[in-house]
Amino acid sequence: MAMTRHVAWAVALAGCGWLAACGSSASGSAVSAGTPAAAAAAPAMSPAAAAEARQIFASRCTACHGPQGHGDGPGAAGLNPPPRNYHDKVWQASVTDDEIEKAIVYGGAAVGRSPAMVGNPDLGDKPEVVAALRAMVREFGKEP
Ligand code: HEC
Repeated sequence: MAMTRHVAWAVALAGCGWLAACGSSASGSAVSAGTPAAAAAAPAMSPAAAAEARQIFASRCTACHGPQGHGDGPGAAGLNPPPRNYHDKVWQASVTDDEIEKAIVYGGAAVGRSPAMVGNPDLGDKPEVVAALRAMVREFGKEP
């Protein structure tokens, strides 16, 4: 079911090193373990915002960026430049948090990138959710 998939992501994003509960078989602890990891990336982030961001990522972003952020979703076909692979370390080092958040809300064109990166203007008044999405993008960048 959908919730299980989100939790699995949260745990995958967090990585075992951060999780005291890593290896625990109780799904209850996996649920609570996913949230502090996101919060660690941005202390002010609420669990609700992190959960909403995971939901939005699954419903709006994976189509192009892929479920693991490799830029290989079904909607990536034919896009040039292709959707950003968040695991690209050179790109991660070159981009600011501010640019990532701006691209998410206002679209690629707003930061001098491809307009194929669509904006999400409805998130303009949800800075915490945008920050949580940015944190997810950064977490993918910490993976190989
Ligand atoms: C219709 C396909 C599509 C969707 C849906 C999409 N993106 Fe993108 N995204 C792209 C493309 C294409 C680029 C590459 C733009 C470039 O490098 O010029 C991109 C680039 C980005 C970048 C890098 C921007 C930069 O300044 O380098 C971020 C961050 C990003 N997307 C986040 C997201 C998030 C988060 C979502 C969901 C809320 C999302 N994208 C949804 C196509 C998409």
